[in-house]
Amino acid sequence: MNKKVYIGMSADMIHPGHLNIIKEANKLGDVIVGLLTDEAIASYKRLPVLKFEQRKMIIENIKGVKEVIPQHELDYSVNLRKVKPDFVVHGDDWKDGIQKRTRQKVIDALAEWGGKLYEVPYTKGISSTQINQSLKEIGTTPEIRMGKLRRLIDSKPIVRVMEAHNGLTGLIVENISINKEGKHKEFDAMWLSSLTDSTAKGKPDIEAVDVTSRLHSLNDILEVTTKPIIYDGDTGGIPEHFLFTVRTLERLGVSAIIIEDKTGLKKNSLFGTDVSQTQDTIENFCRKIKTGKQSQITDNFMIIARIESLILKQGMDDAVKRAKAYIEAGADGIMIHSKEKSESEILEFCNIYSEFETRRPLVVVPSSYNHIYEEQLIDAGVDIVIYANHLLRSAYPAMVDVAKSILENERSTEVNDKCMPIKEILTLIK
Ligand code: SPV
Ligand code: MG
Repeated sequence: MNKKVYIGMSADMIHPGHLNIIKEANKLGDVIVGLLTDEAIASYKRLPVLKFEQRKMIIENIKGVKEVIPQHELDYSVNLRKVKPDFVVHGDDWKDGIQKRTRQKVIDALAEWGGKLYEVPYTKGISSTQINQSLKEIGTTPEIRMGKLRRLIDSKPIVRVMEAHNGLTGLIVENISINKEGKHKEFDAMWLSSLTDSTAKGKPDIEAVDVTSRLHSLNDILEVTTKPIIYDGDTGGIPEHFLFTVRTLERLGVSAIIIEDKTGLKKNSLFGTDVSQTQDTIENFCRKIKTGKQSQITDNFMIIARIESLILKQGMDDAVKRAKAYIEAGADGIMIHSKEKSESEILEFCNIYSEFETRRPLVVVPSSYNHIYEEQLIDAGVDIVIYANHLLRSAYPAMVDVAKSILENERSTEVNDKCMPIKEILTLIK
């Protein structure tokens, strides 16, 4: 019997480095590729460009590959103990850095049945990270961008969304990332907040900034980013108008619109009951959801219904009743909002929601109960967390501070440390 050789791969963007590893592995025996699932890849870096089934089809057709099996974790051990290969083959670039521990676990597992790790010299001059950067520079298409949100919901424990209200904040959400405990972390998508878009335009958040104007901000963001977008649709307007908004957003490649069940002059939810606001009837709002769903052309676009019952002190039963009705009417997701400092009412809702027979992705916006960690939201069954206003709220005090200092000192030297260097701003936008 031939020797068994195991290779773990993401194989998202196949390059000569992958082919070299397969070729070397094939010299040792029959090659079994443990192909990382979308969930496994998303757990430590971005979502792969190609879906699992597409990557599988490519790898299966590469010369020298005998079999492709899913690897559900970044950690090889589970598959290795099942397959018990004679060899594991990997590039020699994982001896240091974040993959060092994974490597050691491979060596330990192989030792259980006398298997060996065989390391191939790293193919220089090419890497998936480089290819990914080049792809970002080329951009995206509306269809690919739109479909990404559903893929993220399916692949990640929670989809992390940050607000953007212009090209510059779009670029921040697109590009800012950190490495924490060996994991690459970044925002998955953008929230086109009505609050921050109107505030940036010096207007109140009362739908006074009309859809045409909101679309200008959206277009600026679309032009310089590739990540999926969730559009804050406020009340969605009257159903007869809403269908046009849905079609426009869909055509532009926006992934989802969230509309809230308020009617008349909408004011920002964080005012709560301090201002008078009217909740729509369940029947009317369901009709709006249905009109929107009937008007969309693709299957991918999502209409998410936002429930204001807790904001307007209508009680948990009302919130739950509405969630059921909106799902029944065709909503692709539910957003439950709260302006309480404590997360208890949100967690209570999540708890009841998790028992629903028909469950759709659940969205929360922890602006007031913001001590809650993402891990707690994951445990509560939340699918999408939106940081709804933080880039604008952090920029404003910084700008006011600088403006005041210049007035105070009658020159700008004192704010040098608070401003990015001129050289940096000139090269910030490539
Ligand atoms: C927004 O960001 O505009 C929202 C969320 O709708 S909230 O401001 O909390 O109402
Ligand atoms: Mg809003």
